[in-house]
Amino acid sequence: ARRGNNAMKICHTAADLARELAGAGRIAFVPTMGNLHEGHLALTRLAREKGDAVVASIFVNRLQFGPNEDFDRYPRTMEADRAGLERMGVDALFAPNEHEMYPVPQLYRVKPPPLGEELEGAFRPGFFDGVCTVVLKLFNLVRPQVAVFGKKDRQQLKIVRGMVQQFNLPIEIVGCETVRAEDGLALSSRNGYLTATERAEAPRLHRVLRGIADAIATGRRDYANLESDGRAELARHGWQVDYVAVRHGLGLRIPHPEAFDHPNLLIVLGAAKLGATRLIDNVDVVPMPDVD
Ligand code: PAF
Repeated sequence: ARRGNNAMKICHTAADLARELAGAGRIAFVPTMGNLHEGHLALTRLAREKGDAVVASIFVNRLQFGPNEDFDRYPRTMEADRAGLERMGVDALFAPNEHEMYPVPQLYRVKPPPLGEELEGAFRPGFFDGVCTVVLKLFNLVRPQVAVFGKKDRQQLKIVRGMVQQFNLPIEIVGCETVRAEDGLALSSRNGYLTATERAEAPRLHRVLRGIADAIATGRRDYANLESDGRAELARHGWQVDYVAVRHGLGLRIPHPEAFDHPNLLIVLGAAKLGATRLIDNVDVVPMPDVD
């Protein structure tokens, strides 16, 4: 039965959640770390189309933060998040505390493939081990039939999808288009860290990636030059660039200009810091279906 009309149930323990979801039908799951914005709400909207009951989770996962990253100052806005999810007709919110998720130190970890050490993984060592480990735990606690992830974290979407395939988890992974501000900036909880001046500069990341994608669409094949020009343009405007990378949209492998990598299948990813804030984004050369 389609739900979404009753008051949202908040579950702090897995046992509570299991009770709530008994007989709920096809469960569509939206895992988050909270501080929800329109991008997250779009995930819940898509989840509503995919399942009978929608479950969101809020858990700031220490395991995926590096020692010098923003775990402690990551924004925690439970009351606003709860109201937003309720407005979206989410049926249950799973909001475990750290002890519920990690009652003892987490000694077993998921080890992602080498792709997990590239791009984001090269600059955030252990990030995808932490993501995959918590996502697998969340999947086992929520037991969804469908889970929705944002395409802004394109590498995360790809790696989670690969984990589900290789561990034979009976879960359909659905990617949701990135939601952008009017000036193109991808919505992100970390945008809240930006000063007014930085916020005005921030859309350049998307513009640079879009510019590279458009250059590829009109025939450029010198990907390395496009990448280094993109990095230089960001650096000129005060960004500290981690990467600007043209990749194959399906496997995220490096395309070879000589080989036949159809340019329509390429995507452009970037990560760079503006002041203390690290932003990531990616664009498709041409919009592509959500398959891998
Ligand atoms: O994308 C996120 O918010 C997190 O990486 C996730 C998937 C909720 C795991 O902690």
